[in-house]
Amino acid sequence: KIKSIEAYTIFDSRGNPTVEVEVALSNGALGRGVAPSGASTGQYEAHELRDGNPEHFNGKSVDKAISHVNGIIAPALLGKDPENQQAVDQTMIDLDGTPNKSNLGANAILAVSTAVLAAVANSRQVPLFEQLGGAEGNLLPFPEIQIIGGGAHAEWRVDVQDFLLIANGASNYEETLEITFRVFNATGKLLKKMGRYYGAADEGGFWPEFDSHEQILDTLTEGIKAAGYVPGKDASIALDVAASDLYDETTNTYRFRLDDRTFTSAEFISLLSTWIDQYPIISLEDPLADTDIEGWKTIMKHHGNQIQIIGDDLFTTNPSRIREGIANNLANAVLIKLNQIGTVTETLEAIRITQAANWRAVVSARSGETEDAFISHLAVATNAGQLKVGSFRHSERMVKWNEILRIHRLLGFRARFNPWSIQ
Ligand code: PGA
Ligand code: ZN
Repeated sequence: KIKSIEAYTIFDSRGNPTVEVEVALSNGALGRGVAPSGASTGQYEAHELRDGNPEHFNGKSVDKAISHVNGIIAPALLGKDPENQQAVDQTMIDLDGTPNKSNLGANAILAVSTAVLAAVANSRQVPLFEQLGGAEGNLLPFPEIQIIGGGAHAEWRVDVQDFLLIANGASNYEETLEITFRVFNATGKLLKKMGRYYGAADEGGFWPEFDSHEQILDTLTEGIKAAGYVPGKDASIALDVAASDLYDETTNTYRFRLDDRTFTSAEFISLLSTWIDQYPIISLEDPLADTDIEGWKTIMKHHGNQIQIIGDDLFTTNPSRIREGIANNLANAVLIKLNQIGTVTETLEAIRITQAANWRAVVSARSGETEDAFISHLAVATNAGQLKVGSFRHSERMVKWNEILRIHRLLGFRARFNPWSIQ
């Protein structure tokens, strides 16, 4: 039985307040859950409730969400069966009563949802991934690791948000980390030598100063070579364009601030096609805005069989949006972020729908993270096959990569790792 639920403020990797929840069961087992926080959030995401009082943490405090947990959610869940995650989550969805969880706050609801699951795992003395996925979950993921950060995460010095590495030639998880380590360091050295290194983006990637995106793609390709690898074969580039942030809905155009260029949807797709031809790019996330549906159909027609095309802002981990996307062939992969939808149950449903269509699920962190590693367990439990967590430095990122190593130890010979393939 659920004995107590308490919420309180902790701080994320940007130093912003966020909600943490501790759940205690009647047998003494404890579980914690914490809400991460995005910066380039999609318009269809579940609502992150912040107090908005400029006098208090610049409006970013989460006292209301915390009082909703302690005053509304806790009384409704006390005495309930924690093993019935679906009923726990449904109780909160009903209490909230809005489609986007704006009443109680998705940050309040998610922290409770994950804390209940963690408490049950502790009570049964099983690791989180096993509680989430039973005996079926045993696939170690390919990391998608940020080398260079831009967009909303780096003061718009660069328009494309993430330049990531996928070590697609690796034959095990440990090897993906070594390849990434070497490319990350080689690229950093190159940037410093070129005098382009500026700072660290929110997810820990390098924040460079460049005159064009092509220069960055060139530099990253050079970084792969300088680390001793063959671009495209051993290690490849993935981009998160986060194109909703570049789109002007009144003129239906995309704009790069970096070199002051404006594109129609067709022109933007043709630019991306050129990049796909010229650089070792194997994955594009949010190549188009979440409202440019025709653009998604077109890019899928041209490149859907060739590279991975991921919807993040397009789907916001929302089962009904994913279903619609599948029906219209808008992408071939879905980025999965728990706090975009707000409960464990709905997240698992989103992954199930994605995988049932033979699309890929890419489990992802947010730009604002904590030392929590729930998503590493989620990736393994659901056999998602991919995990995106930002860069290869800073502890709120490394804890996720490290947790997969620990899960590998727990799984032993039962652990699987599939070679990279687009199909
Ligand atoms: P966010 O960025 O957490 O700031 O939304 C991550 C992403 O866009 O994938
Ligand atoms: Zn994204």
